[in-house]
This record gives sequence, C-alpha cells and structure tokens, in this order.
Amino acid sequence: MKKFFGILLATVIAASTLAGCAAPAAAPAAPAAAPAASAEAAAPEASGDASLADKKVGVCIYQFADNFMTLFRTELESYLISLGFSKENITITDGANDQATQTNQIQNFITQGVDVLIINPVNSSSAATITDMVLEAGIPLVYINREPDADEEKRWADNNWDVTYVGCDARQSGTMQGEIIVDLGLDAVDFNGNGKVDYIMIEGDPENVDAKYRTEFSIKALTDAGLEVACLDDQVGMWQQSEGERLVTNALGAHPETEVVFCNNDAMALGALQAIQAAGRKVGEDIYLVGVDALTEACEFVISGEMTGTVFNDHIAQSHGAADAAVNYITGAGNEHYIGCDYVKVTSENAQAILDSLK
Ligand code: GAL
Repeated sequence: MKKFFGILLATVIAASTLAGCAAPAAAPAAPAAAPAASAEAAAPEASGDASLADKKVGVCIYQFADNFMTLFRTELESYLISLGFSKENITITDGANDQATQTNQIQNFITQGVDVLIINPVNSSSAATITDMVLEAGIPLVYINREPDADEEKRWADNNWDVTYVGCDARQSGTMQGEIIVDLGLDAVDFNGNGKVDYIMIEGDPENVDAKYRTEFSIKALTDAGLEVACLDDQVGMWQQSEGERLVTNALGAHPETEVVFCNNDAMALGALQAIQAAGRKVGEDIYLVGVDALTEACEFVISGEMTGTVFNDHIAQSHGAADAAVNYITGAGNEHYIGCDYVKVTSENAQAILDSLK
C-alpha cells in the first residue's frame, strides 16, 4: 500500500541536505494506490450515542502552536462531542514539539485508563515505541497527521492490532502545488528567460513525511511536465510563519532571480508573502507563491492574487475520520489500518468555494 522505500530514502537524503537543493529522485515510483478506505467511509451510524458519554478519549497533539493542527483539534473536539462524548471526558494535550513531553502525556493517559487514544506524534519515528506502550495497556490507537513509516504500518496489519492512521497522502499535495505552477505555463513563469523555473523551497519539519513528500513531489510535477528547474535555495522553516518570512527574506536577497517560492505549508507561505512584499516584489507579476493547507488567510490572498495557490488539507474529513475510527474501536466495529482522504488544489477559481465550504 504505502511502501516506497526508494522514495523515502531519497527524501531522507534530500531533507538532510538542508543548505543545498536536492535534485528530485531520478525515477520516483507512482503515488500510492487508492487507500483502502476513505476518511468518511466508516462513519459510525450512532450520532449523539448516549453510550459514549462516559468513554474517555485522550488526544495528543504534537504542538498547539501550529495553525493547521489548531483547526484540526478544534474540529476534532466539537465532532467528538457531537457523536456523544462528554467534553470533560475529552482531554487534549500539547506535546510542545518535544517527544519526551508527549511520551509522558501518553503514559498519564494510560494510567488514567482512557478508552481510546488519538495521537499526532511529535516524531513519527517514535511510533513503534508509542504503539507498543499503548497496545500493552490494551488501548486502541488512532494516529493522525504525521504518518508512521511503512514498516510500522505493516506491523499493525500483520498482527491485526487495533491501530490505524487517518490522514491524506502528502505526495498528492506536493503534486498539486507543482501542477499549479505547471498550469501557468513556462512563458508566464520564466521571467528571466533562462528556460528554467528558478525556485526556492521552504520545508516543514524534515522528520515528517508531509515535508519530505511535498518538497519532492512539487518539483517532480514540474519535471514530469517537461520543465527544467533550478533550485536556488532549500531551507527548513519548521512549519512556522516567522521562519518562512526570515528564510525567504534571505533567499530573495541572495537570489533576486527567484521566480517561484514553494512553501510546504500556508503558515510559512504567509511569512514568505511578507518577505516578498518587503522586497518590493509582486506575486503574479514578477514571482509566484504556493502553500498547502488552505488556511482562511491564505485563501483570501489567493482570491486577491497575493498568493498563486494553495492545497486544501481537509482537517474536517481528517478529524471526523479520526473520531469515527475511535468510536469504531470502542464499539468493537474495528477499522482498516489506513484511512485516507484527498487534498484539493486551490486557485483563484475555487478559493471562495473552499472558504464557503468551511463556514
Ligand atoms: C501538515 C500541515 C502543516 C503542519 C504539519 C504538522 O499536514 O500542512 O501546516 O500542521 O502538518 O505536522
């Protein structure tokens, strides 16, 4: 299903070459086949189920100070309540981007005897340890947002454990970012006329696959379309707006010939936009800018033309999928070990519709 060791290895190497620009993998494998189930597929029928009122849910978020995960956890809590859980039985903890802190929080949840855990790991590479701890306590586990690796997911399936992952395939979001630029056509993008797309890349936390795959697949979409690319700079902004601003300010200073700024998420793109404006540049006229998430502010900038595009990271489908999976474990219905959903490409043509759908 999602075992792309070649890509994984290539992207690990890319991510570790922080200062440089890694070439896209020579011949990356095709994106994963359609996931076994969609985030909406296994919705439990019981809505407002009274039997859930005394069930305890522990939710671990990698970091509260993250725009996208704030939307996610807010929606997750209200949807859990709408399913019948009591607000006082839902505990959501802030891992503060520190795995040791989060591991303590998980231990506390185990001691309290929660009925199910929903975990957004700080480090995806700690998933095997987390899974072992939680399963030993007999608690079902739903991973969200930061996908554990293929070996770890295989263990769940091989042992038929009550463990699943709910999320979207980051390769798709990267591909869509690249397609937004491809659709403009080389003539529109190649301001300096050198026949190449001169870009800078601002990456999220390289420890998680969203950053790795968005970095790789955005550029792969360009090269697959036959475009030549030149990476002028590739930096890690850890998903943060302030870092996006700082890094793009530096990159534009060093490389005024930049034609496209790719950011692995919208928070960093919003920072990049501040840097672009401070440098006296204008998106759509002498530079392009794409992000991921479809934060409200980013959609508004896409509508006004100050961002070229973004990709909707469906926090509604993902949070509902995670809550539904939690209920399915509690009721004994069980789940597939991978519950996927789709990203949506966002340009000026549909940004308003995306905003309207979120109201
Ligand atoms: C991504 C999202 C980022 C950030 C990250 C945290 O899916 O696009 O904005 O929230 O998850 O892991």
